[in-house]
Amino acid sequence: MRSALLLGAAALGGCAWDGPMSTVRARSDFARDILYVYGIITWASVAIALVVFAALGVVLLRFREKPGAPLPAQTHGHTLLEIAWTVAPALVLLVIAIPTIQVIFRTQVAPAAQALDVTVRGRQWWWEFRYPSLGVVTANELHLPAGRPVALTLEGPDVIHSFWVPQLGGKRDVIPGRENRLTLVPDRPGEYWGQCAEFCGASHANMGLRVFVDTPEAFARWLAAQRATPAEPAGLAAEGKALYARSACVGCHTIRGVSAGVLGPDLTTFGSRTTLGAGLLPNTIENVTAWIHDPGAIKPGVKMPPLGLTEPQARAIATYLTGLR
Ligand code: CUA
Repeated sequence: MRSALLLGAAALGGCAWDGPMSTVRARSDFARDILYVYGIITWASVAIALVVFAALGVVLLRFREKPGAPLPAQTHGHTLLEIAWTVAPALVLLVIAIPTIQVIFRTQVAPAAQALDVTVRGRQWWWEFRYPSLGVVTANELHLPAGRPVALTLEGPDVIHSFWVPQLGGKRDVIPGRENRLTLVPDRPGEYWGQCAEFCGASHANMGLRVFVDTPEAFARWLAAQRATPAEPAGLAAEGKALYARSACVGCHTIRGVSAGVLGPDLTTFGSRTTLGAGLLPNTIENVTAWIHDPGAIKPGVKMPPLGLTEPQARAIATYLTGLR
């Protein structure tokens, strides 16, 4: 009994109603549309289950074997019954299909004229976010202003990924050589977690993301900080900058005014992000030091190689990078 309770508690522990990846707490028009279809299907399923279990109960009680009871009437072919069990599922499918198709079309509409354009690029194993109209590039943490329509263009250079932020809407694939679109209006400020939802290689499970829906004022502040030129570092951070500039980092990463690599995440305002390695770890000097020292030990398959830096060198670069905000 006790082990059954423990098992039940452990199983249900995964079912947080209001967790950061809840699918039943819609926080955008798109998510609400999907929740509406989900509701129809759930309640239709409940109604069907009640009918089926009631019929099963009646049959089990009425036709159970009793001593001396005669064999019940044997039926072969019953036109009315056969028509009924063909028509009934067709009606069920129709009830599901009409709202589903309506919602599919509604979620594919062209974005509003005042929509904020964001290009989402899925990469092995991180996310790049470009705001072409604002001149900002960032990674793994997407900031959006509440109440403003956003038009996401999904594309990627390597393999198929899937962009999924449950509270803001359903999954949409990110397919190389193709531009998929997703338009939505996030309506409430908050932090929403997302995850790549298409198996894409060794660190698929480590391809998380965060969406910060900000008030318009907070978004304006974030934007200004992203565009500002970071202050010239001093002390250990200055050492870190010099080390960064003459090491292999510059081949893959962009830091505006310092380097212009395009293979890895843009680090221009790295210190303003809350996490490291696509949502894997908190963005602290300790974690960044360990990451620079040997990224593969933290994230399997990661494209960034160990750079052969000493621990103090890695710490200096980590101090520089976490100060970029
Ligand atoms: Cu990207 Cu799974």
